[in-house]
Amino acid sequence: MVKVMLAEGVHWVGAIDWDLRFCGSYSTPRGTTYNAYLVVGDKIVLVDTVKTGFEREMLERIREIVDPVEIDYVICNHSEFDHSGAMPKLMEIAKHAKVISSKAGKVGLQKHYGTDWNSTVVKTGDELSIGSKSLMFIEAPMLHWPDNLFVYLKEDRILMPNDAFGQHIATRQRFEDQVGAAAMDEAAKYFAVIVSPYSSLVQRKIAEIEGMGIRVDMIAPAHGVIWRDPAKIVEAYKRWSSGESDLKATVVFDTMWGSTGRMAREIARGIESEDVEVRVFNIRNSDLSEIMKEILDSKVIVVGSPTLNRDVYPSIGGFLAFLRGIRPQRKKAAVFGSYGWGGGAGQIVREELKKAGFDVFEDSLSVQYVPTDEELKKCFEFGKSVATRVKG
Ligand code: FEO
Repeated sequence: MVKVMLAEGVHWVGAIDWDLRFCGSYSTPRGTTYNAYLVVGDKIVLVDTVKTGFEREMLERIREIVDPVEIDYVICNHSEFDHSGAMPKLMEIAKHAKVISSKAGKVGLQKHYGTDWNSTVVKTGDELSIGSKSLMFIEAPMLHWPDNLFVYLKEDRILMPNDAFGQHIATRQRFEDQVGAAAMDEAAKYFAVIVSPYSSLVQRKIAEIEGMGIRVDMIAPAHGVIWRDPAKIVEAYKRWSSGESDLKATVVFDTMWGSTGRMAREIARGIESEDVEVRVFNIRNSDLSEIMKEILDSKVIVVGSPTLNRDVYPSIGGFLAFLRGIRPQRKKAAVFGSYGWGGGAGQIVREELKKAGFDVFEDSLSVQYVPTDEELKKCFEFGKSVATRVKG
């Protein structure tokens, strides 16, 4: 196996999951990695493990450096299965290893495995010295679970923040500068789907770490590639968490007999005619995670639903429920749709968008059965009007 060193005595010993296509509600077309790091000083520390089923790959990588029996400390930054799943197997081998976690991490381990391996609880500012190296702990609750902990290697100036700053990408390269634009593309999707509900905490945590006066030369997350230029991802996190957006609209719709789809296309043409970038998604053929990534840097979303049985179309209902959980920051929204003999979807979409925190335009567009040429012209004008309003 190819050995990867982040610094002298700091090794990547994770696993590559080439096959993963879904992680919870999140699509992962590029797969992912589960990153574990071995820090070797006078003592041997393993920072995080890997998902259940990948124990062998991690242990083989560790064996190329040390005998896993010799591991002194296992730091559990996050008890979710993709990072702690290999702990039962590892702890059978590294029998004398001490486990370190946050207070909530200790509870998480108990709940997942029926044991926390008598873990030692650490809090922000606590340190573990292993001779030539010292590790400092920073609590990071709700980024994205209550138990999240960051580890900072003081001498090497490496931050290991677990899920934060990660991306779902399986590659044999370990560093962001080796994979090009794919890393930032996946990092944006990861932020949009996993991290963005906690945007205010992201801002506070970045400010807190900057305020600590520590220098970070490398960010080594628990998924994907490692950032050798940390400013790149830190600045992106600042921008995304602030709700800052581009002059861009995302149109999301479903259609039963094609009417709402025709409306969507005309609205998009109207938006585009005002020189506002637009992306259009028929939700039935689209990847929800990709849609969330597009919404992340859009000023406005335009949502279209047919009325079915006096209610919103089921696929759009699911999308709105997902949006309610994510609550994108500082976005505007507009609503359109079609109906047969009784409307109602538009009002439901509007209310759901408000619950998700959107600033919803008062006017909307609704067409009975099939849009006429005149109504399609109105759709075009509606798109122009949405664009003009977001241009401010
Ligand atoms: Fe990568 Fe929250 O687990």
